[in-house]
Amino acid sequence: MPSLEEELFPSTPGKFKIDRGHSMNRQFHRCFASTSTMFLWALFLIALTASYLSFQSFVDSGSRYFSASWGGIQWEKQVRNSAQIHRSGGMSVLVTGAAGFVGTHVSLALKKRGDGVVGLDNFNNYYDPSLKRARKSLLNSHGVLVVEGDLNDGKLLAKLFDVVAFTHVMHLAAQAGVRYAMENPNSYVHSNIAGLVSLLEVCKSANPQPAIVWASSSSVYGLNDKVPFSEADRTDQPASLYAATKKAGEEITHTYNHIYGLSITGLRFFTVYGPWGRPDMAYFSFTRNILQGKPITIYRGKNRADLARDFTYIDDIVKGCLGSLDTSGKSTGTGGKKKGNAPYRIFNLGNTSPVKVPVLVNILERHLKVKAKRNIVDMPGNGDVPFTHANISHAQREFGYKPTTDLQTGLKKFVRWYLSYYGYNNRKGLQ
Ligand SMILES: NC(=O)c1ccc[n+]([C@@H]2O[C@H](COP(=O)([O-])OP(=O)(O)OC[C@H]3O[C@@H](n4cnc5c(N)ncnc54)[C@H](O)[C@@H]3O)[C@@H](O)[C@H]2O)c1
Repeated sequence: MPSLEEELFPSTPGKFKIDRGHSMNRQFHRCFASTSTMFLWALFLIALTASYLSFQSFVDSGSRYFSASWGGIQWEKQVRNSAQIHRSGGMSVLVTGAAGFVGTHVSLALKKRGDGVVGLDNFNNYYDPSLKRARKSLLNSHGVLVVEGDLNDGKLLAKLFDVVAFTHVMHLAAQAGVRYAMENPNSYVHSNIAGLVSLLEVCKSANPQPAIVWASSSSVYGLNDKVPFSEADRTDQPASLYAATKKAGEEITHTYNHIYGLSITGLRFFTVYGPWGRPDMAYFSFTRNILQGKPITIYRGKNRADLARDFTYIDDIVKGCLGSLDTSGKSTGTGGKKKGNAPYRIFNLGNTSPVKVPVLVNILERHLKVKAKRNIVDMPGNGDVPFTHANISHAQREFGYKPTTDLQTGLKKFVRWYLSYYGYNNRKGLQ
């Protein structure tokens, strides 16, 4: 009689020895043996499948743990803690671009009033990442976790929504800056188009769907010369790739509102400035150069006209962001399907009083007590527009938006922060 082992693993693969004996005993044994064979094969296959699946998940999570800084029970606990709401009727908000200038201020304001906040940022090196790290430390010290990751990482976004049922998304992550678009156009497509779609895809499928408030830009007004800029004005003449990606964002978010019922609010910010600001912006780089005794380049428009901007202080922008979140209404979709109409809104958030750039320099000189070395040149065709001026009546009507900080006061606060952050207060006199 062949042993069970021989039955299972015949010496010649694929060839089973045929035994024509008919005794009951033999029949029973054969039947028992073949049932056992099938059972053992089934066990073997199950074990094989299970080990394949666990190997896959090991590879998956392993590569994630090695390549990114998220995942795991401890991490999920931190995310949940950060998203915890501490006031009645509060919201839990995913803030993208939280280590950025506006993101840091909005995250702090939300946290301070008792909302739950989880930040997301990829800490790219468009400008000094150490400033982003310092903002992250500030946020951490106030109980806001900033997850390090990219908008285009759909798995990370889905995981965040698995862990927390975010009621709102404040989407501020973007490739900002007008001139850099000529140097690195793909970074604008990566963050402002692909990243936006990646975020919307996850939001559309989330249950419940969050309401989305996101940063567009005054740059969408482009070559529009009707002032002040109102939301009803034309925005189909962008002057830079940055502006074009923001305009595209307005159209893309509209389709997600229309098809999936996501509540969308787009905010057109007008030249935001203040403490913890962006080093690539004129008021910031002018301050740096003036303090270091280096010349500053001031652009002049057509017919030697000074450029002017509707400079808006960060605290006023934060009030506008919170007002938008508070009035955003609910998304209406579930499971990726629209169940009713959700709001689609666009607001200008500006200061309504444009200031000429040379006046900005005068104010900086006064606060810094140092004379600037001015180098005045004609504006090159690099995407800049000659002036911006916001009509804010729409935001005023909808959520009482009313900017209260003038440029003189706001720059004083910025200069105080700058001197302290870069250690000028500890030096004897200014350089
Ligand atoms: N500051 C202004 O004057 C101004 C004016 C108009 C519009 N905006 C818009 O407001 C938002 C905030 O601007 P800001 O001044 O705080 O800029 P910022 O560059 O300081 O902040 C943006 C943050 O987003 C992060 N980020 C970029 N791409 C990312 C990606 N793919 N994934 C994850 N994180 C990413 C960056 O690391 C950065 O920390 C932006 O959308 C910007 O376009 C700003």
